[in-house]
Amino acid sequence: MELIVAVYDDWGIGKDGTQPIALSADRKFFRETTRGCMVIVGRRTIADFPGQKPLPGRVNVALTRTAQEIPGFTVCTSPAEAVELAKTTDRAMVIGGGSIYKQMLPVCDTAYVTKVHCTPESDTYFPNLDADENWYLSETIRSGEENGIRYDICLYKKKGTA
Ligand SMILES: NC(=O)c1ccc[n+]([C@@H]2O[C@H](COP(=O)([O-])OP(=O)(O)OC[C@H]3O[C@@H](n4cnc5c(N)ncnc54)[C@H](OP(=O)(O)O)[C@@H]3O)[C@@H](O)[C@H]2O)c1
Repeated sequence: MELIVAVYDDWGIGKDGTQPIALSADRKFFRETTRGCMVIVGRRTIADFPGQKPLPGRVNVALTRTAQEIPGFTVCTSPAEAVELAKTTDRAMVIGGGSIYKQMLPVCDTAYVTKVHCTPESDTYFPNLDADENWYLSETIRSGEENGIRYDICLYKKKGTA
């Protein structure tokens, strides 16, 4: 299982249900990386999708304990159920938000992390992989600057995995 996330310098990822600063270079990388994949997403993050619609060109899996149905999404009521479903596809990616990342990090072995070098106020955080002895920075895929904000698109791997 893989995940993809954009983090600020304090590993903040969002505030008030949205990303306070989002770079188009990161959005593009997200689109390229998740295209054709199964994407696994928490119900609150869906509320921030354009029109609350599923992402086109992907199999959209929603995690919720409350909603019976979400149009365009396959509903799972636990991370374990999503993990089982992921076995039916070639590539599954966890795409947030905060609570889903935290619960599913243990079943992931690959993390695409865009480090957006600024620190807007956040109320939702991703675990700091630089301080996690189970993970290591494998590669910096791409670096750049947009609107005066530097970014690094990084690949982290779980130790003991190829
Ligand atoms: N920077 C990034 O890359 C990035 C990516 C994605 C999201 N975000 C940000 O993350 C924030 C949202 O994160 P969040 O933690 O508030 O919400 P979230 O993780 O997107 O969704 C939480 C919801 O998921 C469902 N859920 C959680 N655990 C579950 C479980 N064990 N079984 C079944 N369903 C479960 C529940 O839905 P019900 O309430 O329906 O039961 C819960 O309310 C936003 O600010 C968003 O912008 C950032």
